[in-house]
Amino acid sequence: MRVAMIGAGYVGLVSGACFAEFGVDVCVVDTEVSKVEALRAGRIPIYEPGLDKLVSENVRDGRLSFTTDLSEAMEGADAVFLAVGTPSRRGDGHADLSYVFAAAEQVARAAKGPLVLVTKSTVPVGTGRQIQELIARVRPDAEIEVASNPEFLREGNAIGDFMRPDRVVIGAESDRAFQVLRRLYRPLYLIETPIVQTGIETAELIKYAANAFLAVKITFINQMADLCEKAGADVHDVARGMGLDGRIGRKFLHAGPGYGGSCFPKDTLALARTAQELGAPATIVEQTIAANEARKEAMAERVIAAMGGSVAGKTIAVLGLTFKPETDDMRDAPSLVVVPKLAQAGAIIRAYDPQPSHARQLMPAATHFAESALDAADGADALVLLTEWNEFRALSPERLKATMAGNTVLDLRNAWDPQAFREAGFQYQSIGRP
Ligand code: UDX
Repeated sequence: MRVAMIGAGYVGLVSGACFAEFGVDVCVVDTEVSKVEALRAGRIPIYEPGLDKLVSENVRDGRLSFTTDLSEAMEGADAVFLAVGTPSRRGDGHADLSYVFAAAEQVARAAKGPLVLVTKSTVPVGTGRQIQELIARVRPDAEIEVASNPEFLREGNAIGDFMRPDRVVIGAESDRAFQVLRRLYRPLYLIETPIVQTGIETAELIKYAANAFLAVKITFINQMADLCEKAGADVHDVARGMGLDGRIGRKFLHAGPGYGGSCFPKDTLALARTAQELGAPATIVEQTIAANEARKEAMAERVIAAMGGSVAGKTIAVLGLTFKPETDDMRDAPSLVVVPKLAQAGAIIRAYDPQPSHARQLMPAATHFAESALDAADGADALVLLTEWNEFRALSPERLKATMAGNTVLDLRNAWDPQAFREAGFQYQSIGRP
């Protein structure tokens, strides 16, 4: 089998490397020359655990290559995957499909033999149909079948998610397209991965529905956490007690400062827009979007309130800036709302993140980037845990107390033991716990 993967971004790189690991010949194509050069030299432009090893091994074994030339990548390909970006369009929240359509048109023009054109990028329901129309216009003679094969990769765990998925979703309209895609995923038969074969529109919608549902689930437990605080209940136990009901499930019931990342914020917005346009408004999703936005603002206000109503001139240590641990991704991270708001209110920020490469450019100019969690805490009046990197879990409350000037701790991820922090002399607050 041969595959061309268009787009050397997060999804394209992970999927390309994993297909190569399955034994498929994969050529990843990207228009950015410097990116392709870096990949050829063995440098991975993103941080994802295990990806560098997977890429280098498969390049060494001759199954994975990189190019800027689409025709070269498509030479002999059974399937061409679209893994280009679909950012939110400015103004209306719709997914911006210009990269998808541009790439689909280039594929149509370059196609020689029969091939399956598969969207891996998250695209709104109806996009596959539009791609079919585009191909029919540009190259009515080409033997191109359109399919949808959405990804469900979590950042930080993407390789595991690809290799051991809960399911594979394939949306297509011909036996040939289903066959090509099933063959690509053949190694997963061994672990009995369910394959959901369906129409193109359905496959497109599964991806949005799954992400929106998870965003709703998180927002629900966040609101329960607020209620717990008022009612004197413990959200941790509420989540456990709820989650043990098999119909609900325990995952994604962890209260926090609001969801972020490259998918949930953008996909909920795009789903809400599509649903509105098609006349079937997804009001639960609309409410979720609004509640999550408001929550990030509320987290900054919570810090200010914990400092007695003003943070002017106060030094605040912020631990964790990325939207979640094990990534350097800052897209829609709560820190992008919380830190500027605290800085605007006059706080002096000492921040630490284990992967600060993108955060450095995105935090307010006066932010001091510390070299470690303890360095950030040095002389701080308050400490805010925003993202629960593992290395923060083991921090000793006594050492923090000895390092800090003040005694306020806001654990916005419920990562620490309240009793241990209170015994060390802290005014400790977490989310939805008494
Ligand atoms: C998500 C989906 O999980 C994945 O299937 C999809 O393809 C892409 O979007 P990702 O964005 O990498 O993956 O992160 P995920 O681990 O799902 O977390 C998303 C956000 O929700 C993070 O900000 C995280 O902190 C937050 N979250 C998650 C919670 O606040 N509570 C939870 O219980 C789970």
